[in-house]
Amino acid sequence: MTRGLILAIESSCDETAAAVVERGSRTLSSVVASQIPTHARYGGVVPELASREHLRAIVPVVRAALAQANITLDDLDAIAVTSGPGLAGALLVGITYAKALAFAQNIPLIAINHLEGHIHAVLLHERESAQPETTGAGAPGLASETWDTKDLHSPLAPPDQPALALVVSGGHTHLFLARPAHGAWTYKLIGRTVDDAAGEAYDKVAKLLGFGYPGGPWIDALARYGNPRAVPFAFSQIKTKLHLAGRPPRTKAALTAPIANLNPHFLFSFSGIKTAVLRYVELHNLREESHARAARLFPQQYSRPEPSIDACHPERAKRTGVPSDRSSSLGWGVEGPAFPSLSTPQAPGAPGLASETWETTNPETPRPPTTKAEALALCPQPTLDLIASFQHAVVGDLMKKTFAAAESLGVRRILVTGGVAANRELRARFTAEAARRHVRVAFPTLSLSTDNAAMIGAAAWPRLQAKEFAGPSLSADPSLALGR
Ligand code: KG4
Ligand code: ZN
Repeated sequence: MTRGLILAIESSCDETAAAVVERGSRTLSSVVASQIPTHARYGGVVPELASREHLRAIVPVVRAALAQANITLDDLDAIAVTSGPGLAGALLVGITYAKALAFAQNIPLIAINHLEGHIHAVLLHERESAQPETTGAGAPGLASETWDTKDLHSPLAPPDQPALALVVSGGHTHLFLARPAHGAWTYKLIGRTVDDAAGEAYDKVAKLLGFGYPGGPWIDALARYGNPRAVPFAFSQIKTKLHLAGRPPRTKAALTAPIANLNPHFLFSFSGIKTAVLRYVELHNLREESHARAARLFPQQYSRPEPSIDACHPERAKRTGVPSDRSSSLGWGVEGPAFPSLSTPQAPGAPGLASETWETTNPETPRPPTTKAEALALCPQPTLDLIASFQHAVVGDLMKKTFAAAESLGVRRILVTGGVAANRELRARFTAEAARRHVRVAFPTLSLSTDNAAMIGAAAWPRLQAKEFAGPSLSADPSLALGR
């Protein structure tokens, strides 16, 4: 044995993903079965559909990952799986399958926090871009190598310095101080959102304006054609104790990550800007325009009452009052749209690709525009200006607090990761600001920014070396915290 091969499985939300990662530094395969088309018509993730889609996809996705890596189960050294945070039923599909595989193969099982996975997506990308190109599957040169703790000091090991990690996704906006320790990394929570995550604000604003789910790619694509200074959105300083006024914090995860102990300068809040956009829409009579757009883009469901589903992230579900385990909570009566019928997932396309995404249903889902003409065909210039202003304000706030935290901690290395890290304006502005301040900033590749399993395999490698294994009682932890 001992190529250091980890099969990683990720099923925390609406993506069924499997990957084979070698020694935490080379992706031999990464397969993502996206459920976006399934959930798009509901404006958010439907928990039962997510679990059912995971159940359908998990076996073919794992098989495809092994086949593309050109290995069999017998070549594996460990199985890694996301154990939380996320949607309980979705997590359980991956955990149960991972457990069964590890038991059958008699190899270790490694539990990974989804947020830690996002952080390691950047580190994986850094390591992969630091080593010579390979032909993808197999990496013959490494086939006979052994690994042990000396690998921690190899040129491929992560640089031995702490980093400030901004994890910014649909369910999280967290700042962590991440330190390479002996074996696994350690994390300290530095800041977080007190209400909505940044991606959540993107999703809700996009929905309000009649665009598809997830909203981030729509806003990202449209903001390029608007004036970012047209609408002066502002973020005010969060005053923790005043803000909470002695009451418990509003989010469930806040119980495991007490907001009151954090520096208020490093706290985020995105519910205010979401409401500001809503007020702007009402004040400027943009409702009708938004409905007309939704009707054009999603004719099947536009006239239905809006369900507002926030299932993947228990905090989101809790705040919106949508239980994450009941489809009856959608707010539709008997007239609601029927759940899509389950069909066999498309087989993965071109064999030999190290990384790919395949969608389980409905490839006809509308896509964000790619030209100004397409953008203008979708919305008038003032709406493009509104979108650009929203994004400019959100990215500006993320930047301001992240760089302030880095400076206050004396950290010269910033990692930005999670679905929102795919955003073009965010990447450009963080890169420019880092250059101005002479600090390093790194992002994952676009496909490593959103949910995938390669990041889970990368995060599992130091745990394999440190022999930090999960027991047979491993279960899903929907509100698993990272760092204290
Ligand atoms: O990391 P991720 O795939 O799942 C979670 O762990 O939440 O992140 C999904 C989030 C969604 O809110 C989506 O709207 C947002 O990432 N997102 C983006 C972009 N691509 C995805 N937000 C802004 N710009 C993008 N290009
Ligand atoms: Zn994620």
